Formats: sequence, structure tokens, C-alpha cells
Amino acid sequence: MQEEIEGVMNAARKHHELFENALPLIASENITSNTVRRLLASDLSHRYAEGDIGNRFYQGCEYIDEIEKLTMRYAKELFEAEHVNVKPTSGVNANIAALFALTSPGDGIMALSVSDGGHISHSRFSVPSIRDLKLKNLPFDPKEMNIDPDRMEKEIKENKPKLILLGGSLFLFPHPILGARKAADEVDAEIVYDASHVLGLIAGKKFQDPLREGADVVTSSTHKTFPGPQGAIILCRNNLRDEIDKAVFPGTVSNHHLHHVAGLAVTLVEMKHFGAEYASQILSNAKALAQSLYEENFDVLCEHKGFTESHQIVVDVRGYGGGDAVAKKLEKANIITNKNMLPFDKTPEAPSGIRLGVQELTRIGMKESEMREIASFMKRVVMGEEDENRVKEEVIELRKGFQHVQYCFDGEDAYKFPEAFSF
Ligand SMILES: Cc1ncc(COP(=O)(O)O)c(C=O)c1O
Repeated sequence: MQEEIEGVMNAARKHHELFENALPLIASENITSNTVRRLLASDLSHRYAEGDIGNRFYQGCEYIDEIEKLTMRYAKELFEAEHVNVKPTSGVNANIAALFALTSPGDGIMALSVSDGGHISHSRFSVPSIRDLKLKNLPFDPKEMNIDPDRMEKEIKENKPKLILLGGSLFLFPHPILGARKAADEVDAEIVYDASHVLGLIAGKKFQDPLREGADVVTSSTHKTFPGPQGAIILCRNNLRDEIDKAVFPGTVSNHHLHHVAGLAVTLVEMKHFGAEYASQILSNAKALAQSLYEENFDVLCEHKGFTESHQIVVDVRGYGGGDAVAKKLEKANIITNKNMLPFDKTPEAPSGIRLGVQELTRIGMKESEMREIASFMKRVVMGEEDENRVKEEVIELRKGFQHVQYCFDGEDAYKFPEAFSF
């Protein structure tokens, strides 16, 4: 093989080796089943299918139509949605499309600030600016780590936004959709709920149900707690169908990623069969890891509320050098986390916290006893001044027993680099 190509292949092999031997705790990631991996490597990744089912701009789309039809059907069934669009290629793409569909330049919008858990695409750095929207942040209660429901209702009525954007990236507890709906109805606003982080929990019916609680539109990436290929989905009521569809194609997507759509279909089926059990174990694991870290003397947020009702745990690590230093230290022991701003952080330069997500560890079969072991590894690295390499050896040993993806039909050796097309 060409030397230049071998360099790329070797880096990819090493990446696989790292993740076969690490504890992936990034809250926005997951791993797919092998059927999904096969579809991602299929010819679908080479094709174009601009347009809609039965009305494409290109020939050769007969089977692509079949796949997209099935994907939409499975998504509608699983999420009990009147309409779905499976074309957005990422969560940000879905948010851009939804906000362009439902607002006009100059309209007001309310969303969480990034330090309170909003995603960057909810902030003045992204869609609200490019759409020229007047952004007002939703009031947040840092003690409860949630939107302040009373102030939210009051401020919605005062500010009369056109759109309220709920959901976020730091997302421990269900957001007050019912209250937002009540206030939104008084000022004729629409509610978009960004479920990117919690879609897998919603699929398993273990979190709030945004469509039933009053969201008009749900946007979501499909690869965080929902363990599908990278991409996104929009769910909405039938009355918004045309605006949403137009804002996706041709508004913000030309060709959607057909191999990802096929992978999404398979993951929807996996979640139909295993979603409840998977989501329930995620919640138990998150609580177990939070409790164990707390007992190891970490400053885990929201002890008074049982720490979390999602896949996420937030730890204030200012006492140990801050989020950046702690995440880098943990990485040396093959414990993969990320630094995260906490509500009192004024700038993104020195985040005070780390955010942990247990969805991928759950997907590979880990349960409460492994969570306790991981908390002890983290204590030894962060507080114990222990050589990270010694902990790393134990992490690698622990991972040996967890190489297969669960809650799907074929998860054997799912971290292995695909050396050959033997499938
Ligand atoms: C709440 C939220 N929305 C949107 C996104 C963006 O998703 P994507 O990376 O698929 O564009 C993220 C990513 O982490 C997120 O946390």
C-alpha cells in the first residue's frame, strides 16, 4: 500500500486500539451495532438522492426510496410523531432548518446560554445571529441545574418571543415544557425542543415526552444517547410539515447522507426492541457513578436531587486545577471525558467542570458495579497523585470484558478496525 495511505490507516488502527482499551465517557458519543457499521460502509455512501421519495432529481433511487420510507415509518412509530424528516446531516443542521422554518429576521427567541447548558447552535455565535434573531436567555437556576420555571413563564409573557428553544448540552433534568407551553400559548410562540442529548432516553420512554408535553418541533442528532450513525432527525406536528421539509431540502441540505439514513432505520428498530431496557440501565448507571464519585469526595452537582435523571453527571473540579487539567489527567489513564463550563463560569477559557455520560459504557454492557470501579479509578488519578499508567493498566484490564455492543442484534467485537470486507 502507498506509504501516504498507510499513514492514515495506521492512525485509524491506533484510534480503534485506543477506544478498545479506554472508558469513553463523552456524553455526546456512542457506538453503533455492526449492521449499522456495514451500512455506513455500503454503496449508499456514494449516491445522491436530492428531492423526495418518488420525486428525485436523479435516477437510480428505487431502493434508496424504499430505505427512506422505512426509516420514516420506524421513526414515526417509535416517537409517535405525526411527521418526521430524516434528512438533516447533523444536529446543528436540524436546528438551523427548524429556526429558519419558524422565524423571520428580527423575531425574538429565548434559549439557554452556553454556560447554563445551551448548545452553541442556540447561542449568539450561531443560528440566532445568522437569522438575525433577538436572543434572550432563558432564566436558569444553578442550584437546581434547570430552567427556573416561574421566571421562565413570566419572562416569556414579558418578552413575547416568536420561538422558545428548550433542550441543551448540559442536561441533567427534564425541562419545564408544560409551563413553557402555557406561556407560549398566551404570546403565540412556538416551542422547539432540542433532544440531541436525550433522544435515546426518550426512545426508551425514560425521560420526558416533548411532543406530548407541548413541543411543536423536536430536533435531534442521532448519535448521543440514541446510538445511531452521526446525523439528525426532526419530528413535528403535521401542520408544520411543509415549512420544516422546505427548510431542510432545499433550504439547508442538498444531498442527505443515505448510508446514515439506512443506519438510522436499523437503530430505530434496535431501540424499539431494546430501548426501554437500555435507557433504564443508563439511568441506573448514571446514578451509581454519581453516587460513587460523591462518596469518593468529588463535588458532584445536585446531590439534593439525586444528581441526575439523564445519562449525564456534572462534577465541579475547580479544586483539582479545573476541567481542562482534570480531563487531560484522566486521558492519560485512558478515561475519556471533557471539560465543561458550569453556570457561574463567565468565559469559556477555563471551564470549572467535567461532564460525564454513561450511555456508551452502558451500551457495552457495564452495570452499577463497574460504575463503582470507575469512580475509584477517577479518584486515584485526580486526587490520589497515583501514576496514571498504573490506573491505565487496570482500565485496560476492565475493558477486556466489555468489547461487544449490547441492546442490538449483532454487536460482536464492535470496536475492531475493519481490516477487510469480510462481511
Ligand atoms: C443540544 C445539542 N444540540 C445540537 C448539537 C449538535 O449536534 P451535531 O454535532 O450533530 O451537529 C449538540 C452536540 O453536541 C448538542 O449537544
